[in-house]
Amino acid sequence: MENTCFQLAPRGRCAGQLDPPGDKSMSHRAIMLASLAQGTSEIGGLLASEDCLATLEAFRNMGVQVHWLAPGRIRVHGAGLHGLQAPDTVLDMGNSGTAMRLLAGVLCGQTFASTLSGDASLNARPMQRIAEPLQAMGADIRLCAAGTAPLEIRPGTTLHGIDYVLPVASAQVKSCLLLAGLYAEGRTCITEPVRCRDHTENMLRAFSCALEFADQRVCLQGGTELKATEIDIPGDLSAAAFFIVGALVSPDSQLTVKNVGINPTRAGVIEILRLMGARIDIRNERNYGEEPVADLVVTSSPLHGIEIPRNLVVDAIDEFPALFIASACAKGTTELSGAEELRTKESDRIRTMVSGLCSLGIRAEEKPDGVTITGGRFGGGTVDSGGDHRVAMAFAMASLAASGTITVTGTEAVATSFPGFVDTATQLGLAFE
Ligand code: S3P
Repeated sequence: MENTCFQLAPRGRCAGQLDPPGDKSMSHRAIMLASLAQGTSEIGGLLASEDCLATLEAFRNMGVQVHWLAPGRIRVHGAGLHGLQAPDTVLDMGNSGTAMRLLAGVLCGQTFASTLSGDASLNARPMQRIAEPLQAMGADIRLCAAGTAPLEIRPGTTLHGIDYVLPVASAQVKSCLLLAGLYAEGRTCITEPVRCRDHTENMLRAFSCALEFADQRVCLQGGTELKATEIDIPGDLSAAAFFIVGALVSPDSQLTVKNVGINPTRAGVIEILRLMGARIDIRNERNYGEEPVADLVVTSSPLHGIEIPRNLVVDAIDEFPALFIASACAKGTTELSGAEELRTKESDRIRTMVSGLCSLGIRAEEKPDGVTITGGRFGGGTVDSGGDHRVAMAFAMASLAASGTITVTGTEAVATSFPGFVDTATQLGLAFE
């Protein structure tokens, strides 16, 4: 893949109206459940990014027919729970942890062998967290000695339901096990230590799969068939977060974010920014199916450093690159703890973000499970995104509060989650050179 970079002058703005791309987490789930359902589903608002297209391609490789009706709109002819065909190739999940971990759950229920692999970043991420409970369900899934992909899944075993307490707060692990649970004998129950995003549960219900909930425990009955439906996917708050921070830190900006998902298991970024003094108004609240949606009006605000409440960490887990940029522009010090999971993302986000902040003249220190950032003024300079899409987009926003030109290298990964990022950012006023 060709190496690309962003070069941004410090004179940009971030104002106007943002229609964020479709939610990435929900797009993966919609493709998966529509493929496994009986009947024909239509999905609107789908994110056509590299990550989601990897999921789509995997199901096409297993015989599912998908037709594009319009940009962001597909029709999926579901194969039913037992209608997938053996793929004739290794399933390449690219950069996507969600695609790999959720699909592993589905594949463990099939009567054919399969191999899941990805790019160098994905093949270095921890997979023991799914392999161990899948093996406890009876799956034959093998990984590399380092506990990483490629994952080899062999048929010939019958899955049985388990009652599992997640050792890490991970929606990907929970979702993987719920999907495997569809193929298991008996009930599968998952208890989470901290409530994680619940899009899988919401979408399973949309596909007519009954779930039982008690406290932070969810159960489903194996063998439940999914019924095709219509899904409308809200805008992605994780994608919008960069521009929300951009509008807050650039002077005299007002940004309206339209039709964005505000599921409480995802909306920690709004709460954290408000605690830092951000003006974010939530308007026009409504629902797309089970998912809450709203428009946000964001106005430039003087921010101050805070100790980020630990109970908000999971609800904002993908937004820390953007939040670190906000912290660098805030008065005083921001402390983050309890966020060691950031080290297992597309890059080690504690390390890549701290090193980028320091190279732009901001005082930032790594802790094993977080960071300490002292607000200041960004100078110009070059930042390495570490091939991490969210790090690249976060540092683009730093240009809105910088004294010199910022160059961000390794930006090709932005296409994994936000293919139109440069066009959107340019329209809102960022000054790409
Ligand atoms: C996701 C869950 C989170 C998040 C990831 C998407 C999902 O990962 O960081 O970007 O769609 O379920 P974990 O489940 O590993 O926390």
